Amino acid sequence: MSRFTLTVLADATRLATALAEQIQALSVAPGDDRLAIALSGGSTPQRLYETLAASPFATGVCWERLELFFGDERAVPPDDPASNFGMVSRALLAHVPVRAHRMVAERGEADAYARLLAERITARQDGIPVFDLVLLGIGEDGHTASLFPGTAALDERTRWVVMNDVPQLATRRMTCTYPILNAAKQVWVLAAGAGKRAIVAECLRAREIEGAQRHRPVVGVRPSTGTLTWWLDAAAAGEEA
Ligand code: 6PG
Repeated sequence: MSRFTLTVLADATRLATALAEQIQALSVAPGDDRLAIALSGGSTPQRLYETLAASPFATGVCWERLELFFGDERAVPPDDPASNFGMVSRALLAHVPVRAHRMVAERGEADAYARLLAERITARQDGIPVFDLVLLGIGEDGHTASLFPGTAALDERTRWVVMNDVPQLATRRMTCTYPILNAAKQVWVLAAGAGKRAIVAECLRAREIEGAQRHRPVVGVRPSTGTLTWWLDAAAAGEEA
């Protein structure tokens, strides 16, 4: 069972700064191994990427040590405003020297992405690649990555990356699945703003309820041996700032 920590920062700016400090510390920690990080779309992660792209992090992070991947992607080309890769490119990749691997979701290349993960990331004994860090957001319906309530990807037990039909959005997205997310060394779930308060409270309660992940998929993210941290600002946590 994963170790779970809930950390609350006063506001979204302090949250992004605290997260950027953590990433900087990881990047300069002793060792020369590459660090594989899975990125998320969404507004809270975006603020973190913008923070990392600015002083002091743009020069303080050891970028050559990091290798960036994606936890999910919309089925659009990178120049589409909805593209997660496009957002990360504008917020971060255009400003710092870091290697990043895009999911080619518009062509449905989920198996190719899984092969890339297998080639680039050290695996545990059962062959599942182990991300050093996975960043996730929470949607207002409790989705995370592109694991949406009631969708087929929630039941995936063997493939690490799939195309997932999302009928409630009349779309299809590429997403990492629970087996690879839950193999990670560290998973961070990020949420900021009062708009997230209700779903955050509901999902924290739902963590205790068997089967709740079908309706609130973020609850199914429970690293088997790694750590899980929910990073919230006071507004999302329902605390006075
Ligand atoms: C995506 C994300 C998704 C996101 C949540 C929260 O591609 O949409 O990866 O899982 O993190 O929807 O997004 P917001 O913070 O913008 O609400």
